[in-house]
Amino acid sequence: MQNPTQWLSSSLSFLSSTPSLFKDPKPKPIIYTLLILSLFSILLILSLTSSTPSPTHTRPDPFLYPTHQTHRIIYDQDKTTPPPPSIAYLISGSKGDSGRILRLLSATYHPLNHYLLHLDPSASHSDRENLALVVQKNRVFKAAQNVHVMGKPDFVYTKGSSPVSFTLHAASIFLRLSVKWDWFVSLSADSYPLVTQDDLLHIMSFLPKDMNFVNHSSYIGWKELRKLKPIIVDPGLYLSEGTDMFYATQKRDLPSAYRLFTGSSFSILSRNFMEFCILGVDNLPRILLMYFSNTPSSLSSYFPTVLCNSRQFNRTVINQDLLYSIYDSHRNDLRSLNSTDFDNMLHSGAAFARKFEPDDPVLDLIDQKILDRSPGSVVPGGWCLGEPGNNTCLTWGDASILRPGTGSQRLEKAIVELLLNGTFRSHQCI
Ligand SMILES: *[C@@H]1O[C@H](CO)[C@@H](O)[C@H](O)[C@H]1NC(C)=O
Ligand SMILES: *[C@@H]1O[C@H](CO)[C@@H](O)[C@H](O)[C@H]1NC(C)=O
Ligand SMILES: *[C@@H]1O[C@H](CO)[C@@H](O)[C@H](O)[C@H]1NC(C)=O
Ligand SMILES: *[C@@H]1O[C@H](CO)[C@@H](O)[C@H](O)[C@H]1NC(C)=O
Ligand SMILES: *[C@@H]1O[C@H](CO)[C@@H](O)[C@H](O)[C@H]1NC(C)=O
Repeated sequence: MQNPTQWLSSSLSFLSSTPSLFKDPKPKPIIYTLLILSLFSILLILSLTSSTPSPTHTRPDPFLYPTHQTHRIIYDQDKTTPPPPSIAYLISGSKGDSGRILRLLSATYHPLNHYLLHLDPSASHSDRENLALVVQKNRVFKAAQNVHVMGKPDFVYTKGSSPVSFTLHAASIFLRLSVKWDWFVSLSADSYPLVTQDDLLHIMSFLPKDMNFVNHSSYIGWKELRKLKPIIVDPGLYLSEGTDMFYATQKRDLPSAYRLFTGSSFSILSRNFMEFCILGVDNLPRILLMYFSNTPSSLSSYFPTVLCNSRQFNRTVINQDLLYSIYDSHRNDLRSLNSTDFDNMLHSGAAFARKFEPDDPVLDLIDQKILDRSPGSVVPGGWCLGEPGNNTCLTWGDASILRPGTGSQRLEKAIVELLLNGTFRSHQCI
């Protein structure tokens, strides 16, 4: 068994501490399969080894790091404002997505958050290496040491069960990396935020930390049956090369031991819930993991089904994922958003939107009108104290000072509507 620390490399230790990863352009099939198949033992090891895997880390840059006293400006902050939470972002993409991943990272960056970047095996190893280099060279990311690049990629087929295994893998890395995050968000490279992190963290600081934003429905129509009855085997779980999904000729009945819920592949999940799925002693998450491993589109059903079948968590779920997207039923896929959708996106009050074409002009519009982000730099927030006109985020203040803007009002309105209408309880797990 490999040391679990080899599964990820911090942006800072990526090149120095794991040179062997680079000599090995493709993961060795046997080791790879073994590692995937023994997901549980790895998670177990991750949970047992509590120290952080960072002996080679350099210390945070004292001139940028927010706790540096001479750079700290204490504002007269309202004492009733709860301390800001922290979000663990998994940002993943495929071949050719490095640019989008970096742009999405800059658009969602905040020093209190944690980031894990992943390029799947369709990307070359030098792409991964370059991504880590760019992250390593960026002064802001380097200062907080909160951006990491996954050194060893996971296969992620959208249709099969490998996305669930990948998502749990990433969450387990976050659990091991840091004790200080509250929500887990997995973004694909074709997503983009519709509010600044100051807006999002500000609003989430008022919410109970155990809330989960997950679209779910127990309604099973013919469309859902088409995803739940076939038996498939995801090649990502046992082959080292990408191939087509294996479909069995027979179909199976729906389970009667638990209620199935379907939803969407995007969700905002609480840390408590991720711990329940990965480290919990209740066997429900593992039983469902086994069941969904042979189901197409398992990612959109796994988390809703675990949440709603668990006594502990069925009251924490909100039936809205805060993602704006438009489904194109003709093409059976999400429609690409463009500038025509800008106003609707804004009025939706969503925190994120998907999907966008690479470098679509609407992304520049979002940068300009919503995020106030200039090309190549991060979104300025309450923590940025630099001279106006320069890259203001090169001088840091206290990272827990948030400067929410109009985005927080949109988000607040959307969430208050969800909670106040009574739709919250009456739409829960039905
Ligand atoms: C949550 O589970 C409890 C216990 O099984 C059940 O009584 C309750 O109705 C469930 N709530 C929802 C919203 O499903
Ligand atoms: C999630 O649920 C909300 C509210 O029910 C809905 O507006 C949205 O379209 C759903 N998203 C997806 C991807 O189904
Ligand atoms: C945006 O997409 C819609 C639907 O695909 C299309 O009708 C419209 O012309 C597009 N607008 C722009 C500005 O590209
Ligand atoms: C800020 O920008 C001005 C010109 O716009 C430049 O002269 C100055 O050196 C910059 N300061 C820093 C700290 O980069
Ligand atoms: C909440 O109620 C208002 C007015 O009753 C309605 O317009 C709005 O659509 C409702 N929101 C949700 C999410 O159901």
